[in-house]
Amino acid sequence: MDILSISGAAYLVAALLFILALAGLSKHETATQGWVYGVAGMALAFAATLLQVADTGRGVAIIVLVSAVAVGAVVGFWRARVVEMTGMPELIALLHSFVGLAAVLIGWNGHLDAGSHAGGIHRAEVFIGVFIGAVTFTGSIVAFLKLSGRLKSAPLTLRGKNVLNVGALVAFVVLTVVYVLTPGLGLLIAVTVLALALGWHLVASIGGGDTPVVVSMLNSYSGWAAAASGFLLGNDLLIITGALVGSSGAYLSYIMCKAMNRSFISVIAGGFGIEAGTSGDQDYGDHREISAEDTAELLLSASSVVITPGYGMAVAQAQYPVAELTRLLRAKGVDVRFGIHPVAGRLPGHMNVLLAEAKVPYDIVLEMDEVNDDLVETDVVLVIGANDTVNPAAAEDPDSPIAGMPVLRVWEAKNVVVFKRSMATGYAGVQNPLFFRENSQMLFGDAKSRVDDIVGALSRVPAN
Ligand code: TAP
Repeated sequence: MDILSISGAAYLVAALLFILALAGLSKHETATQGWVYGVAGMALAFAATLLQVADTGRGVAIIVLVSAVAVGAVVGFWRARVVEMTGMPELIALLHSFVGLAAVLIGWNGHLDAGSHAGGIHRAEVFIGVFIGAVTFTGSIVAFLKLSGRLKSAPLTLRGKNVLNVGALVAFVVLTVVYVLTPGLGLLIAVTVLALALGWHLVASIGGGDTPVVVSMLNSYSGWAAAASGFLLGNDLLIITGALVGSSGAYLSYIMCKAMNRSFISVIAGGFGIEAGTSGDQDYGDHREISAEDTAELLLSASSVVITPGYGMAVAQAQYPVAELTRLLRAKGVDVRFGIHPVAGRLPGHMNVLLAEAKVPYDIVLEMDEVNDDLVETDVVLVIGANDTVNPAAAEDPDSPIAGMPVLRVWEAKNVVVFKRSMATGYAGVQNPLFFRENSQMLFGDAKSRVDDIVGALSRVPAN
């Protein structure tokens, strides 16, 4: 058997392992197994590629390949070890940008290598690969900058932004046709610049609240970019893997859009059709403050308590005192449950993982839909470091930038205590009228210290 057949067979097995990895990663119980399949698939794919390169007998190529993989592995290993959980989405966005950049470079190489002898299909592959790659590259960089707070999360609303987006797509189609007929470096430069600008604009136009969907959409784009590179390089594994990533990312985005009541087309087209809403900086009146001691008393007089955690709980690492608070209140006969919003925090399942880490019992951790109707009967809701996910403007103000997004209706409860450090807005940059409601009180300070204070106050109360 020749080397090409061996590596082809290895690629097929690797593709199957990637499919098994995706299946395993979709469930908590089988996630570790899925991870093992993924690592095995990648190791096999790398070995097969190395075999192919070794077969060419070009020593320099082998050295370049091994060194690039070694440097990438060391950097990747280091970043994955040190990244905080709250920083995962931005790391993922940055990794997508590398896939986009790789697709652009492969496309450019395809052009320079083949010169004017390439066929029409090859030319189309070059052009489409460069386009998708460049959109993914700048789009992912903007997502990274927004997620890491280096760029404002509010949407960029250029005048005529829809016309700009549609115009860029039409220009791409026209340029592709011209390039297939008469390939030229100028056209490749033009499409690269056009796609870089489009990627930037598409993601910059999306409001902070929709960023989770955008990250998964960019995941999908990076898959299509890899598949396009696979066609260009005649590499079956890259085509299969790219298609897997592309379709699963698109499906995840679709599910997220449904959960957040967003139009799928609108999000993938960079907020197409969404015109700027009001920024929500109207005057809602005064807010009231409460101390940790008074909160402890309020909790002791309650028979039902719901805790809605958000990004601030993760930042403060308050899940351990929150678990202790839960234990103390339950020991005193208070019914304590958690209400988890699907996009609370910065990645899907963020709050569930933190609470599980702190050993909060699974059966009292409920999804938003399971708890929303009970909030009206609840004595006290503790909003710990959450903001956008409990914003009544989403349900009540059609002009709000987050209008229509399902939220935890905490304001219906008898009492609401909001734990945060200031009156600052949440991730979407929208003011929250909850803070000014008559039944709401603010407990300012770091969430961990404030929950610790309440735990201290409760511990001093003698058991009945
Ligand atoms: P956010 O709206 O992000 O609000 C978090 C709040 O926590 C802030 O208002 C902040 O107020 C407070 N906070 C920060 N550090 C704190 C600390 N040490 N102690 C106490 N409070 C602290 O939170 P959320 O309700 O969880 O909403 C999540 C947002 O992220 C949504 O807009 C969502 O769309 C977006 N997002 C979600 C995901 C996924 S998949 N979950 C991914 C990307 C983006 P102060 O500064 O005043 O303290």
